[in-house]
Amino acid sequence: MTKSLEAAGYEVIRFVIPFGEESKSPENFIAALRFLAESRLTRTDILVALGGGVVGDLTGFVAASYLRGIPFVQIPTTVLSAVDSSVGGKTAIDLPEGKNLVGAFYQPHLVICDIDTLKTLPREVWEEGFAEIIKYGMLGNADLLNELLTPVEDKMESIIATCVAMKRDVVAEDEHDHGMRQLLNLGHTVGHAIEALSNYKQSHGRAVGAGMCIVTEAAYKHGLCPKESYDIVCRLCDKFRLSTRTEYTVEQMYDIMTADKKRAGNKINLIVPCGFAQCEIRPMEITELKCFLGV
Ligand code: GLY
Repeated sequence: MTKSLEAAGYEVIRFVIPFGEESKSPENFIAALRFLAESRLTRTDILVALGGGVVGDLTGFVAASYLRGIPFVQIPTTVLSAVDSSVGGKTAIDLPEGKNLVGAFYQPHLVICDIDTLKTLPREVWEEGFAEIIKYGMLGNADLLNELLTPVEDKMESIIATCVAMKRDVVAEDEHDHGMRQLLNLGHTVGHAIEALSNYKQSHGRAVGAGMCIVTEAAYKHGLCPKESYDIVCRLCDKFRLSTRTEYTVEQMYDIMTADKKRAGNKINLIVPCGFAQCEIRPMEITELKCFLGV
């Protein structure tokens, strides 16, 4: 990428962070800002986030903050960031108290996805991206769910385009997450609890996969969605080697979920399957959430 940018007449400087959620830290945020300041970047310069969700979230928040905002471009290199996190302008860093607790809604000027890059991913990283793809199917695209049951390697361009189009429509309607954008959190309330309990050893995609299965199982047992919803989410998670359950108890997850930033007073909006490939936002008392998941 450096070569092609230089060939196009840009001067390129690089700030590299290690792989993993620990890199989305306040320390790296400040270090990146200081790097930009020392390098005398101005508002006519552009940040390019070349990497997965961690790189995109951190770069986006740095771009939103430096000089009160400079342009940035997302170039996602993982399946997960290609279908979800590079689109829609959520940027953030983590605090020791929790994930994504500081950030901004700040849209990238451009998102470029090169499908060939994804072919070079380690198998585990490739697979975990499918949790977010399954999510888009569960949210309203039965055809996508059925397509995921077939071999997908040669269909990645259309699968990614389908997810990005769904996300685009949702974000265009509700950029700041007050309404229907919350649907994109299917599996995330439980998933974030799993990530936190594992000290972020469990990846986001894998935690969201388990979160979707757990919440869909509860919805089915409460008579809110057909068993087919639970069957297909588990079948797809199995196919992409994502776990369908967690070693953590509802009690353990509950303690984390009560600190969720999406909580409002004593209520939390849980995203719950309410039909095949259909979900709804269900406001719940925090205590009700525990009973709901405990079934
Ligand atoms: N990843 C969920 C959202 O962008 O709202």
